[in-house]
Amino acid sequence: MKKWYDEAIIYQIYPKSFQDSNNDGIGDLQGIKQRIPYLKRLGINTVWLNPVFVSPQVDNGYDVANYFAIDEKMGTMADMEDLISALHQNGIRIIMDFVLNHTSDQHPWFKDAIANPKSIYRDYYLFAGENGHRPNNWGSFFGGSVWEPDPKTGQFYFHLFDKHMPDLNWKNPGVRKAMLDIAEFWLKKGIDGLRLDAFIHIAKADFRQNYPAPEGQIPVAEPFFANLPEVVHYLRPFCQQIKQDYPDCLLLGEAASANVNLAATYTDPENNLLDAAITFRCFTEDDSHLDSAIPAAYQVKPFDFEAFKLTQMVWEQTLAGISMPVLYWSNHDMSRLRTRIAKNDMQAKSLAMLLYLERGIPIIYYGEELGLTNLAFKHLADFKDQTVFDFAKEAEKEGYSEAEILKMVSKTHKMPARGVMPWQRVENYGFSKHRPWLTGEKQDDHFAEAEIADSESFFNFYRQLIALKKTPLFMEGSYYLHPTSNKSFIYQRDLGDESALVVVNLTDKPLKVKTRYQKVILSNGQYSLTDNELQLAPFAGLVLERD
Ligand code: GLC
Ligand code: CA
Repeated sequence: MKKWYDEAIIYQIYPKSFQDSNNDGIGDLQGIKQRIPYLKRLGINTVWLNPVFVSPQVDNGYDVANYFAIDEKMGTMADMEDLISALHQNGIRIIMDFVLNHTSDQHPWFKDAIANPKSIYRDYYLFAGENGHRPNNWGSFFGGSVWEPDPKTGQFYFHLFDKHMPDLNWKNPGVRKAMLDIAEFWLKKGIDGLRLDAFIHIAKADFRQNYPAPEGQIPVAEPFFANLPEVVHYLRPFCQQIKQDYPDCLLLGEAASANVNLAATYTDPENNLLDAAITFRCFTEDDSHLDSAIPAAYQVKPFDFEAFKLTQMVWEQTLAGISMPVLYWSNHDMSRLRTRIAKNDMQAKSLAMLLYLERGIPIIYYGEELGLTNLAFKHLADFKDQTVFDFAKEAEKEGYSEAEILKMVSKTHKMPARGVMPWQRVENYGFSKHRPWLTGEKQDDHFAEAEIADSESFFNFYRQLIALKKTPLFMEGSYYLHPTSNKSFIYQRDLGDESALVVVNLTDKPLKVKTRYQKVILSNGQYSLTDNELQLAPFAGLVLERD
C-alpha cells in the first residue's frame, strides 16, 4: 500500500539558522512559520526539524535536557503546536529529530545518577570501570575517550559524542519504555514522523575488550558500538508499537555507517523496523592526493564520481522492492554540496538533478536550493570542536599557517555549513535584526529574494526539479543506470509506456551522447540535440523523455 512518505520531498531546516522572529540572533519556531510561503513556493511537501527540545546547546540541541518541552530560545510548546498546524494547513508534513542514543548531562535522570550512585537512574546510563581505571581504550566521535570520570565513585560514564552527552543504556527496559513514551508524546501532537538520531549506536559490545591499537591511543572503536545485532532487538518493539498506534508515521533512521545490506535489513517491511535509512556511506572521496604528514580528517578531498556511480547503482539495486533510498547531498553534519563537491553553480544544479530524480526520498538541506556555500570562519575557536583543535596542532607542526588551516577546515567542517539563511541582501540578511548566533563570512552571492525574482536562478531550477520529481515516472518508475565512462552519469526511469533519461556531464569538457530520446523536460546549461546525438556543455544536465 502506498504511503505518503513514498512521495515525500523533505526540506531539512536547522531551526537556529532559518529565521529569527524575536531578534535575539537565533532562529526559532515562529520564524519558520513566517517562511511557510517560501517552502510552498519551492514545492517541498515535508520538513524535518533538527532538535528543538530543551537543551544546554553543547551540540546545538542534540544534547536534550527535557524531551517534553521546547527550548526557550526556539519558542514555546504553543509555538510548536501552532507550527504543526500551520504546516499541515499548507499541505506540508513535519518530522522531528528524535535523540535516543544519549541525553544531556543536564537531564534530570543523569543528574540524579551522578548525585546518587544508588539511584534507579544510574542504570539508565553506562557506568563502568573502577578505581579510576577506564574499562577500555575506545575513542569518542568528538575526540578523546568515550569514558568520562565520575569522581565520586571512581567509575566512568560512557559518551560516544561530547562528554556532556552521556549514552543511554538501552538494555534497561525503563529506558526503552521512557523513549517510547517520549516518541508517542510527540506523535500525539500530530507530527508525521521521526528522524531517529544515531540509532545504530544504541547497543554496545562487552566493555572488557580493547580495540587493537598502540598503547596510549584512543581509537574510535566502531565495531564495538555501531550496528550491533542488539540494535534491531531494541528497536523492533519500539517501531512496532509506534506503527500500531500511528500507522502513517514515517520512521527515518540515521544510519551513518550502515552499508547497503544493513540498510536493507533496517528498512525491509518484513522486519518491522524503519521505513527508510540515511547512510553516509554513499559519499565517496578520492584520498589519493592527501598530505600524509597530517591527519586526513579536515583536508580537502576531491569527490570520486566513479566510485559514487557504483554506490548509487548498488543502493538503488539492493533497495529496489524493499524501501526507498534516501537521496541527499548535504546535511548539518557535513560541508555543503557547493563547497564540498560542486566546482560551480552549474555543476551543483546538475548534481541535484542527478540525485533527486533517482528512485528515493530527496532531502534538501536548507539553502542548498540557493546554491549556498560554507561560511569562512575567522578563528579556530569558532568551530568549538576538539577534533579541529587536534587537527590544527598537527598541521601547525607540519608548517601550515593558521590562515591555511582555517581555510581548509572552513571547507570541510560541518559548522560552516550551518550558516543563517540569507533572505535578503541587507545587514544580517533579513534573518534577524541582531547579529546571527553563528558568524563567519559568506562566500557566495546568493540571496532568496533575488533568486525568487530571477527565472534563471538556482532557486527556480530547484522549483522545476521538484515539480518534475513529483510526477509518477520519477516517484514510482524503475531505475536503470546506463554503463558509461566516468565522463557522464546517465540513467533511465521507466513506468508503463513512459520513459525518461537523466544525462549529466560530469566534466569541464563538452559531452556527446548518442540517444533517441528527443523531448527535453528539464535542462541545466547549454545543449544541442539532433536526431540521434546530444551535446552537453561542461557540467550541464538534461532530462529527456522518449517522444
Ligand atoms: C547525529 C547528528 C549530529 C549529532 C550526533 C549526536 O549524528 O546528526 O549532528 O552531533 O548525532 O547526537
Ligand atoms: Ca529568536
